[in-house]
Amino acid sequence: MKPKIWLSSPHMSGNELSYINEAFKSNWVAPLGPNVNGFEDDIKSYLSKNRHVAALASGTSALHLSLILLGVGYGDEVICQSKTFSASANPIVYQGASPVFVDSESETWNMCPIQLETAIKDRVAKGIKPKAIIAVHLYGMPYKVDEINKIALKYNIPIVEDSAESLGSQYKGENCGTFGDFSILSFNGNKIITTSGGGALVTKTLTFKEKAIFLATQARDNAPHYLHSEIGYNYRMSNIVAGIGRGQMTILDSHVAKRRSNYKFYVDALKHIDRITFLKEPEGHFSNRWLSCILLDSKETREGLRLALEEENIESRPLWKPMHQQPIFKEYSSYLNGVSDELFERGLCLPSGSNLTDNELERVISAINSYFVT
Ligand SMILES: Cc1ncc(COP(=O)(O)O)c(C=O)c1O
Repeated sequence: MKPKIWLSSPHMSGNELSYINEAFKSNWVAPLGPNVNGFEDDIKSYLSKNRHVAALASGTSALHLSLILLGVGYGDEVICQSKTFSASANPIVYQGASPVFVDSESETWNMCPIQLETAIKDRVAKGIKPKAIIAVHLYGMPYKVDEINKIALKYNIPIVEDSAESLGSQYKGENCGTFGDFSILSFNGNKIITTSGGGALVTKTLTFKEKAIFLATQARDNAPHYLHSEIGYNYRMSNIVAGIGRGQMTILDSHVAKRRSNYKFYVDALKHIDRITFLKEPEGHFSNRWLSCILLDSKETREGLRLALEEENIESRPLWKPMHQQPIFKEYSSYLNGVSDELFERGLCLPSGSNLTDNELERVISAINSYFVT
């Protein structure tokens, strides 16, 4: 069996261990310490906008806290992009609220502004104004920020920007992770940088950052004994994990460059196969190309190609199955136009890691070529 080629595997810089060793030496083996503060500062200066960053246990916990900070509770509704990973929607249900799913447009594969406005108008007509909008830059491609913001402003609904997959992407020259009322990042093992598991909440004010940290550290009131007047969570990032993050921040830009070069390589190497198409960057959009995704001419071709790659020990994955199709979310309202259903049927993510070698990329191309020739 040939060695496995992964979709997106962790890629260390070599600098991580020095931060971890320092944490051991100074005995900061806790969910606080210099690496946590340092990692937050590194992200803050990378995002280079007036934002505050709280390092947390995961992107999911960041989403959950953002909904709590927005006052989402039992009986509320929250609009969520349907084409996403389930972690974007799960925290809505943690809060006893209901997701309302909105379909994608075909230029970025993210939230469709037309469907968003239709959904808001319809929910308002039904007597429930949505409490928040969760918009996602899926696979690293920024959503149509201006259009989504305009609608959110018109109806005065806050945006939670799910940037889990898009650290390093930009819209009109500004960094993803800075467009929402709250924004979240993920450092899960498959992301563009990883801390093994981890995430961050990006806020517009220091007060919200401090409140997020308070909630993430069990909501302990200021007293010598344990005193609680709110429900708390154990959501803070550990100082060891943050050490990995500090090392990873030193090579974020080179990871973006490599993932973008993977994408370009695939486009060039597969341009002779007209049954394959790619997601282009619309004007003003700069994608970190976290995953290189292709569309095939049919569901059968997509599945055939996936199995052919699997035969060669190459991991690929269908584009994410939309939330409105998931058994657990089936009974919630959705506003659909067919785009995300079609993307799910015909789309495939190819190996995209920043540690892919030329030889591995050639293996992927040769497996794809053989599939289309036979
Ligand atoms: C779009 C999206 N949102 C949220 C998450 C959740 O992040 P985490 O795994 O860090 O909880 C992920 C990734 O896992 C994701 O891809």
